[in-house]
Amino acid sequence: MSHILIVDDEVAIRRALEKFLTELGYKVVTAGDGEEGLKLLEKYPIDLALVDLVMPKLDGIRFIRKMKISAPEVIPIVLTGFGTITSAVEAMKAGAYHYLTKPFELDDIAALIQTALDHKNLKKENRLLKKHLHEKYRFDNIVGKSDEMQAVFDLIEKVADTDSTVLIMGDSGTGKELIAKALHFNSARRDKPLVTVNCAAIPEELLESELFGHMKGSFTGAVASTQGRFLSANGGTIFLDEIGDMSPKLQVKLLRVLQERRFEPVGSSQSVEVDVRILAATNQRLEEAVKQGKFREDLYYRLNVIPIHIPSLKNRDGDLPLLLSHFINRFSRQNKKEIMDVTDKAKKLMANYSWPGNVRELENTIERIIILKDKGTIDVADLPEKIRGNAHLAKTQGDFELPEAGISFKNAITNFEKTLILKALEKTGWNKNKAASLLKINRTTLVEKIKKRGLEKTAEK
Ligand SMILES: Nc1ncnc2c1ncn2[C@@H]1O[C@H](COP(=O)(O)OP(=O)(O)OP(=O)(O)O)[C@@H](O)[C@H]1O
Ligand SMILES: [Mg+2]
Repeated sequence: MSHILIVDDEVAIRRALEKFLTELGYKVVTAGDGEEGLKLLEKYPIDLALVDLVMPKLDGIRFIRKMKISAPEVIPIVLTGFGTITSAVEAMKAGAYHYLTKPFELDDIAALIQTALDHKNLKKENRLLKKHLHEKYRFDNIVGKSDEMQAVFDLIEKVADTDSTVLIMGDSGTGKELIAKALHFNSARRDKPLVTVNCAAIPEELLESELFGHMKGSFTGAVASTQGRFLSANGGTIFLDEIGDMSPKLQVKLLRVLQERRFEPVGSSQSVEVDVRILAATNQRLEEAVKQGKFREDLYYRLNVIPIHIPSLKNRDGDLPLLLSHFINRFSRQNKKEIMDVTDKAKKLMANYSWPGNVRELENTIERIIILKDKGTIDVADLPEKIRGNAHLAKTQGDFELPEAGISFKNAITNFEKTLILKALEKTGWNKNKAASLLKINRTTLVEKIKKRGLEKTAEK
């Protein structure tokens, strides 16, 4: 329902307009002069104002000028008994949408108001639509305030709107695919396809034709020609996930695409040209794979034009609480439950947990808790055993309690050892010498333990 403000010193006109417009279904408020009008603007969500030009205290032109500053969204329409060109022109210059000279037909006023409001709504809708699109594709669905993630955001911002190849590296569940999407949707290619291919999920023999297409009859079962993912992505972006799992043969073919943007479909001798931006991701240490001869060095350099390293969740200072409430909000809304709080104890346990599955593990954990719990506050008992288990390890002394069901002595010691080593490494900025002396053990012992406990990935920074 639209709100209309009438500002006119003539009582009869105010009354007549008020009655007429109210009957048409508008909410109407009236003022006898400009000053009173300004006060009403603060009180009501006014959409449109009918303004007389000659009034005591604050005249119509000055009123419109002030309104343009304090309430610029309101549409001013001028009513004047002194319909001289000069005052009308002045009113339009001050920002009036239109003017009518007295005496006027009520129907003319109604039509003008309707047009003006439609116009305004359209503009508002457009604005909302644009804002919505923008929000959807901005990266504020990627949560993170840690310095590490802020650096990643800066990098995304810099390289998104280029055609550069980007290699996204990070442990499993750190958000590689999310970042690939952010890159695509913040590029000029955003309205074109983003095609994702998981190189590890497709059997080696099929991956080639999946990527590059094949001609009919080129291999058993190839009953029709298919165009392949590279062509489907033409004009847009292709995201090659788990690139570290690509076979040597395909690595060669991919290298050529990277160099020349052309390839031959399986069974064809004619090459096809494509315009695609290539994004790749891996949770493997590609540099290691290169050293071991499993991944082509030339391909590695071609892919690694812009490397983005996503840190594991454990190494992002301050992100856990943020992600926690992000996921609680999301899954509560999805499951139509009231938004739950988390007890300090539960928060502490989660903070001490190592999250080997990173953000995905946190996301799944919260989803499960929200689904299982009806209301109340998320507490220690709601947490999965592996996180609760840490309760016994988080402290070296004090209120440690042996659970009724008992615990595995061996696992507890191993986990505690891991926690201690990680803590020491974190405290010393991953300096193994300093970490070893902090734990009062030899560097060699520490390095051995890091290796034995599979902590290299996190340790090597
Ligand atoms: N910073 C973040 N903010 C919000 N959600 C995130 C963030 N990082 C990851 N997620 C969510 O966690 C899940 C895992 O992310 P994603 O699939 O992008 O990770 P990945 O690195 O590709 O994992 P994998 O190596 O297992 O393929 C997704 O549901 C994603 O939406
Ligand atoms: Mg992924």
